[in-house]
Amino acid sequence: MSIYIDPEIAVSLRGYEVPEKLGFGTAMAPVMFRAVWQDGCWSNGELIPYAPLTVDPAAKVLHYAQSCFEGMKAYRTEEGGAALFRPEMNAARMAYSAQRLCMPSVPESLFLDGVRVVTAHCTNLVPSNSGESLYLRPFLMGTQPDLTVSASNSYEFYVIASPSEAYHSGNMRLWIEREDARAAVGGTGDAKVGGNYASSLLSIGRLRERGYDQSLWLNPANRQNIDELSGMNFFAVIDGSLYTPALNGSILEGITRHSLIQLAKGLGYTVVERAVPIDELLEQIASGECSEAFACGTAAIISPISVIGDGGQEYSLPYTPGPVAEHLRQALLDIQEGRSEDTYDWMKAV
Ligand code: COI
Repeated sequence: MSIYIDPEIAVSLRGYEVPEKLGFGTAMAPVMFRAVWQDGCWSNGELIPYAPLTVDPAAKVLHYAQSCFEGMKAYRTEEGGAALFRPEMNAARMAYSAQRLCMPSVPESLFLDGVRVVTAHCTNLVPSNSGESLYLRPFLMGTQPDLTVSASNSYEFYVIASPSEAYHSGNMRLWIEREDARAAVGGTGDAKVGGNYASSLLSIGRLRERGYDQSLWLNPANRQNIDELSGMNFFAVIDGSLYTPALNGSILEGITRHSLIQLAKGLGYTVVERAVPIDELLEQIASGECSEAFACGTAAIISPISVIGDGGQEYSLPYTPGPVAEHLRQALLDIQEGRSEDTYDWMKAV
């Protein structure tokens, strides 16, 4: 499909540079991609100046949360261009999230066109410091103005971008969330939909007051096994092996999680995907069998966990950052930032 490039794009981009102070997802690139689904088919995509959207106040997305999104990154290449990390995995995950919410999936070719054209026009907005990147946020929403609880008959797909640092820097203090649940049994925990994040906000507010950074969510069926953090997957190093909760329908299958499992196995680590009961893990931290724990995600990369709080008690991890987390973080960034050979064919030049 051909992509329409708005002539105003050149004006929007003129003089626009990577901001000195980056943060995460606060500075927006001045362009965006849009495609519209109507009468059963997708329009051609268009690259247009970044601007507020016009959404009907009765649009389904605003009332019934018919929307899903992705998080992905572009990195600077040695030649001065940009490369995307495993974009076809984001396309596939968005297709899964869309079908879960009864939305038409964005065809892989349209999704890839969108992220490529935004990245290609924002190459000079890809930061060059290690750990920084151009964060891309594709999203899809139901726009039909109609208050009946039914799937929308019209949709809009956008890609916006933001030169960003990692989501979290430094060590993380986790709080075991034993009151609320992030996702329900049979719910949308394994889809990347805004509702999962909205339902985590009350917990995050509570734990911040107590001096913690992130909630550690337990499985909604048994309130015992670890699921994930809000927006990151969980790993622990136990007797030298890596353990991560097995996918169970309420965990989002992180692309960083998937990549780290492959990378770690290639580096000779044993990786175990199984249910990880929180009480067992706390005992292993107390006994020293669990030497380190970390969270991973596209935005977060790898964030070491220093403390897990449970009611009035705190369990401290002996190594933060631990050697395994450091090793994997470096190995992943070396591929993403072009310092080592991309033996897995993960990087896609734009
Ligand atoms: C990502 O890692 O890309 C996410 O979407 C998580 C979000 C909390 C920033």
